Amino acid sequence: MCGHVLLILGVVLALAAASEACVYKYGTSPGSEAPSVSGTSWDYKVMGDDWSGVDGHNKSWSCMSGLHQSPIDLPVSAHIGDPSLISKWSYPSLISNGSNIEVINNGHAIQVEWTSNYEGSMDIVADASPAATITDILSMPDTSEGTKVVTARPLQFHFHTGSEHFMDGDALAMEMHIVSRVPHSEMPGCPEAGCLTVTAVLFKVREGPCNAALKDLFTSLPMEEGTINFLSEGATIDLGKVLPSKEKRSYYQYAGSLTTPPCSEGLLWHVLDEASHISWKQYRALLMAVSDKDCTLKAEDTSKVPRASTGQMQYLRSSGSLQNLHRSHTAQRALRSSLSSSEGMPQYLEVVVSELKSLQRDRQGVLVLQSSAVRHLTAGSDLQKHKDTYVCVAYAYSQNRRLPQPSNDRMIKYFEASKESDMIAEAIKA
Ligand SMILES: *[C@@H]1O[C@H](CO)[C@@H](O)[C@H](O)[C@H]1NC(C)=O
Ligand SMILES: *[C@@H]1O[C@H](CO)[C@@H](O)[C@H](O)[C@H]1NC(C)=O
Repeated sequence: MCGHVLLILGVVLALAAASEACVYKYGTSPGSEAPSVSGTSWDYKVMGDDWSGVDGHNKSWSCMSGLHQSPIDLPVSAHIGDPSLISKWSYPSLISNGSNIEVINNGHAIQVEWTSNYEGSMDIVADASPAATITDILSMPDTSEGTKVVTARPLQFHFHTGSEHFMDGDALAMEMHIVSRVPHSEMPGCPEAGCLTVTAVLFKVREGPCNAALKDLFTSLPMEEGTINFLSEGATIDLGKVLPSKEKRSYYQYAGSLTTPPCSEGLLWHVLDEASHISWKQYRALLMAVSDKDCTLKAEDTSKVPRASTGQMQYLRSSGSLQNLHRSHTAQRALRSSLSSSEGMPQYLEVVVSELKSLQRDRQGVLVLQSSAVRHLTAGSDLQKHKDTYVCVAYAYSQNRRLPQPSNDRMIKYFEASKESDMIAEAIKA
């Protein structure tokens, strides 16, 4: 199996990967056992019940120790929230120009991000006191006194199969999480990076037509872990229509956590009560994209990969940069960096990110990687050839969801969508 090699960029021990069949959770590369680029790797094998580990700063995750974790089982009866405190979503369509909307298979989920400005927003009634964070609203009385409206902007959205939140003991087929941020400038009590709020939409699968708002997206799902599909030009994601219509946007509100490691708490959750729908075809496409796959390293390609002699010392050019590491991808296949060799030939170092155990800078600012899989490649073309050396067969549909966590008597509010106020708003507009 894979031995661990301590790799210091500067002093390189190169190791050729062995040809072996492995079982990968999701996707089609070793990256499917994706670690966060730094920190403990994790998967969904027992739906989150083994998530003890550390982040890139060696700080323990909150998954097993936190008392305000997500998801939870939402009760039939919750505290009815005051209508003056209701949140409002305004999500125009995301329209692709061919290169601005990324559909990413990150080894844990299918996630959508965009590089162009998106005007989507969410108005949340928050505690107005200067030190307040986004979750403090839950401990305030049911009145708008002492509150202010803050705007949360969506950062990305992704999907879980089946649903993570349960409704009175039952899971649904799928859950979509729209992750939004309230900036520090709007809520000074939030950390520099802002406060997070997640809008969850639960889905049922039904016979018949597909969900039109998600049609273009679900026909562009990347099947390979670590890969990105760009939505083709003109393709749209009608985010506003993925949510139930305005008069049906009743929701549960509570304070919880990220549902993936490090399971950080302090998030404000909005879980919409009305389920949306997808077709069986759409559901199958998503399951296939995140299925368990059995991958084999192709023998003929292995032979083309040049091997460096073990223990050979190489030094990085000081300008050598780590390429191909997407800003938010935890599961890119490889980090590559140019090396200068003694013969003056351009050479590259490839570190399989899936096998990356740690990534940090030492006191001199030199990147220190620890990985069990490092390849030493010559010239540029080998990198391209090497890209698809894994042949994978899907062998099981799988679920990428964390099971519900104890609610520990948390305040759970239920806000009923008001037909009346929306009708008045529409009338004023008309
Ligand atoms: C991380 O923390 C643990 C316990 O606090 C310590 O034993 C370990 O050496 C630390 N590891 C690193 C890489 O700093
Ligand atoms: C698409 O949008 C991105 C991000 O705004 C921009 O960088 C790119 O130039 C656009 N492409 C086209 C073809 O308009």
